[in-house]
Amino acid sequence: MSLRILHFSDVHLPCPPGAFRTPEIFHPKRIAALLNFYLRRGSKYADALQKLNGLRDFLQREPVDFLLYTGDTLNFGLEREFTGAAPRLAEILALARRASLAVPGNHDLYTASSLALHRRHFAPFLRSDLPDSATATGYPLVRWLGDDAVAIAFNTSRPHFMFWNSSGRVPGLELDALHRLLDRPEIATRRHIFLMTHYPFDERGYFHGLRNSRALLALLRGRSNLVLLHGHNHRSYTRRVPGTDTPLYCAGSLSKAGAESFWLFDVFGDSLNARRGAWHNARFTLVD
Ligand SMILES: [Fe+2]
Ligand SMILES: [Fe+2]
Repeated sequence: MSLRILHFSDVHLPCPPGAFRTPEIFHPKRIAALLNFYLRRGSKYADALQKLNGLRDFLQREPVDFLLYTGDTLNFGLEREFTGAAPRLAEILALARRASLAVPGNHDLYTASSLALHRRHFAPFLRSDLPDSATATGYPLVRWLGDDAVAIAFNTSRPHFMFWNSSGRVPGLELDALHRLLDRPEIATRRHIFLMTHYPFDERGYFHGLRNSRALLALLRGRSNLVLLHGHNHRSYTRRVPGTDTPLYCAGSLSKAGAESFWLFDVFGDSLNARRGAWHNARFTLVD
């Protein structure tokens, strides 16, 4: 039986009016980010809601079985952002014929208080088919994708106090849990294992990369049925993990003006066909 899966990321919906009228804004990281947003970044995402509606229209034309979302819904992790954006995302994620799965991005978990907000507002999409395998962090999450495939989500985003640090990390507990999950016979024997998280699996960099990417890639080495999905970089691409046959897909940003993208996967038995979605003439279409 064939399966259709859509992966998207980094929607970065604009802040609702009045969202900044809160003491939460007086956090050194948010003040710096606010300046950056208004001076450089914000205009590129001003039409993010239109792009999200464009994805809704695409999904109505081309229904999918599963939606996999790798985070960065917001910009500053403020409560008003969550209350405004979560229903919009929920409307999209509910369009999957069978189920959806989500992980947070670093802009969703901006400060320590954002963790609980994300858990509360995205709860329907953080459910696991193997809840006992989740650690104290709430991850990894497992979603069976039919009989031949599975998605496993783990969280690499974490709050930082200082604005210059936006590095990610797989918590040690989640690395161990991931190892155990990948060795479970009912998972190891699946034809396709989609591993999803916000940060790029293979990027290093003390203040911006995934700090323990080496440990993560060492854990994945030698497994032939993996497909790696991530966001965070706001341009889409695909490549093989160096030294392996493992394909990696970055969804880019659904909403960045001029670079809007997602990936659509068709799974037929052992084969996986990936096509990229792009924004053209005010609608999403498949380009390759
Ligand atoms: Fe992002
Ligand atoms: Fe990000």
